[in-house]
Amino acid sequence: MKKILVTGGLGFIGSHTVVELQNEGFEVVIIDNLSNSKIDVLNSITEITHKKPDFHQLDLRVKSDVKNFFDHTKIDGIIHFAAFKAVGESVEKPLEYYENNIGSLVYLLQEMRDRNIDNFIFSSSCTVYGQADELPITENAPIKPAESPYGNTKQVGEEIIKEACNAHNLNAIALRYFNPIGAHDSIKIGELPLGVPQNLIPFVTQTAAGIRKELSIFGDDYPTHDGTAIRDYIHVVDLAKAHIAALQRLLDKKNANNFEFFNVGTGKGSSVLDVVKSFEKVSSQKLPYKIVGRRAGDITAAYADTSLVSKELNWKTEKTLDEALDSAWKWQESQL
Ligand code: NAD
Ligand code: UD1
Repeated sequence: MKKILVTGGLGFIGSHTVVELQNEGFEVVIIDNLSNSKIDVLNSITEITHKKPDFHQLDLRVKSDVKNFFDHTKIDGIIHFAAFKAVGESVEKPLEYYENNIGSLVYLLQEMRDRNIDNFIFSSSCTVYGQADELPITENAPIKPAESPYGNTKQVGEEIIKEACNAHNLNAIALRYFNPIGAHDSIKIGELPLGVPQNLIPFVTQTAAGIRKELSIFGDDYPTHDGTAIRDYIHVVDLAKAHIAALQRLLDKKNANNFEFFNVGTGKGSSVLDVVKSFEKVSSQKLPYKIVGRRAGDITAAYADTSLVSKELNWKTEKTLDEALDSAWKWQESQL
């Protein structure tokens, strides 16, 4: 049985991936410092899978703790989710973002190099493309200058991994996520945003739950079918499964290069108003909203070309936007 380290394994995407890994028979070790997650998630994962993952509460920024962990645990691969992810906050606190998102990454890669551990999966983002010139976005689209320190940590992170792979004979895959949403079918795990959500779906569900008065739609003057901006919303369980496919590719040594990157999205673009309509349908609720000005830094449209990921990883999405929003709403209701 292969033993996989999942950093940030109690977070939103990490917890769903731990469930899929355990369902597929992998042994999972989680490192999380609980900076953006709750320990209860460990019990929820155990309830879903009937197996308790090994959990280490430690901070990846503390090099000696990371070293000590690897002194005592033998690992066959790493899925690295742990990072700070709030775009706005990264502008206020760039050094904290570089310390956590880059520092932790470097420490992990150093341990891999020193101990001959291979097989690394990295959480990257479609934010690396900025506003792409062509849609859907292929992996050949050029990387645009980052709009925020957070976005820059993903670009620089990929470069660091690529250079480490070349220098130290490591193999890695970066997955460039589009917009992950939704919750596990069991409604035992989901997204836990702190404070006022900045992202669309948690704001929508909190508005429907009466926690927020109304949704502000940021702009209806974009050159799209209804004037609102378009994104590619992917169900978090589909996204979790893409990690298993990427990991298996590395374990089977089927990768074409020592550093590969794939877009992980549905391939379908949905506007903000499409999301509102779909949400109203699945929740049987009228969502209060108003149109306000565009949000600074927002792009018009982004959705993935999924040909490469479906061919190389033999993976495709199974869930629809309606299903993702239905699960997000049920998860919200379970939190009240
Ligand atoms: P999340 O905040 O829910 O999960 C991250 C987890 O990492 C948290 O449980 C947190 O406690 C932990 N963590 C953070 N710093 C740590 C440290 N120094 N040591 C140990 N644990 C630490 O975030 P998520 O939405 O699950 O995102 C996971 C990854 O995917 C991140 O790298 C994020 O940047 C990337 N990503 C997320 C999205 C998205 O929209 N959610 C989109 C693209 C990429
Ligand atoms: C976010 C991240 C980005 C990341 C991407 C994919 C921010 C600022 N950016 O951007 O780095 O790569 O997810 O995970 O967090 N919207 C509203 N009202 C709201 C909230 C959002 O109208 O209250 C609109 C936005 O203008 C956008 C769409 O909804 O058009 C989606 O917004 P959001 O969920 O924040 O995702 P991204 O903008 O794609």
